[in-house]
Amino acid sequence: MSMSGKRIILGITGGIAAYKAAMLLRLLKKENCDVTAVMTKAAENFITPLTMQALSGKPVLRDMFSAVADNGIVHISAAAQTDLVVIAPATANTIAKIRAGIADNLLTSIVLATEAPIVIAPAMNRVMWENSATQDNIKTLRGRGFLISGPASGFQACGDTGAGRMSEPEDILKDIRSILSGDASAPKNPGKLSGIKAVITAGPTIEPLDPVRYLSNRSSGKMGYAIARAAADMGAQVTLISGPVSLEPPPGVSLIPAETALEMRDAVMNSIPGADVFIGTAAVADYRAKEISPVKIKKSVHGGEISLLLTENPDILSLVGHSPERPRIVAGFAAETGNLEAYALKKLTAKNADVIFGNDVSDKTIGFNSDENEITVFTGKGKPVRLPRASKKDLGNAVVSFIADMLQ
Ligand code: PMT
Repeated sequence: MSMSGKRIILGITGGIAAYKAAMLLRLLKKENCDVTAVMTKAAENFITPLTMQALSGKPVLRDMFSAVADNGIVHISAAAQTDLVVIAPATANTIAKIRAGIADNLLTSIVLATEAPIVIAPAMNRVMWENSATQDNIKTLRGRGFLISGPASGFQACGDTGAGRMSEPEDILKDIRSILSGDASAPKNPGKLSGIKAVITAGPTIEPLDPVRYLSNRSSGKMGYAIARAAADMGAQVTLISGPVSLEPPPGVSLIPAETALEMRDAVMNSIPGADVFIGTAAVADYRAKEISPVKIKKSVHGGEISLLLTENPDILSLVGHSPERPRIVAGFAAETGNLEAYALKKLTAKNADVIFGNDVSDKTIGFNSDENEITVFTGKGKPVRLPRASKKDLGNAVVSFIADMLQ
């Protein structure tokens, strides 16, 4: 996708990785982007505004209260006239301010005032990155739709080794491109789940009544497939156990087809040893026919009425939640037509799950067989988190990011 002509604000904060911002700026200019550099005071200790001006061909914005430009409201005009904001490097301090909505310099003011997508490339010492305050801030920003690019792991300028190095400019550019191309299915946090084994169920089950008829539901598999795709994009090894749907499995995912709840249970229980994450997105039929007629049920034999005796199916999510082979994170969905919170919290406990993603399926435009969904996340700790209405592709990314944060 061509990025030519895209207006990009490149925010630079005070970290040793600021020199890499110059490289990112050059890459963006090579793509013919119109780049405006915005530097904090602290950034000027690491790289000069003159360097960024020479590379961007434009004055660097540094002053919140410029008397000449834009009637002194430069943050509002810059925020409105941009297609994307990228902050590279983003220090722990700036990340914390953004999370809190603090606007005490030009860059943080632009972030608060813009409606454009925002990419944050954290860069800090390993211990600062691992600090629960930073992790909490990152989790919140991710939930608000910020794209967190990196950080990478390795040797750090302070002599430490670990996570916290700013991503390479080429990798940040890839993330910028994925956002500008509007490709919601593009990898959002590549490598975030590398080494993680995830088992995901999707779609409906079908429960035969006779050789040609069955009981089922309206699940299309779209939600589960989007989750499988997002997990694979983030580097997880994904086993997708799917009921009958008309979707192509996402690239790099191992598909195990299952028709009935019993088949799905067997496939899941065979797959969970060694898994780190289980996500039950499938709409598993709660009941199946107690007896399946070996021949087609005939109207001429049964007359005007027929009774079906149903028996309960095993609860796969609960079996996984209570299994000695229980993955570290067990996640389920709750499809409800009312009392979402009460039912979701009940499922969380009864099925020994870590998180339940609730969707209100009384609204026909979301949930079953739609392209969009709206999710409330229940962990039983703190307030439920709302993931507002969005495409299932986007929500797949949000669900998997949420789980990735739980794993840390
Ligand atoms: O497939 P789509 O068209 O994209 O629609 C997505 C969806 C609405 C199906 C999905 O978002 C969803 O909500 N899936 C769960 C549907 C469901 O069966 O919910 P439930 O509240 O009945 O079950 C709760 C949880 O227990 C689910 O994780 C379910 O997979 C699991 N379960 C239920 C019954 C059973 N016998 N075994 C189970 O594991």
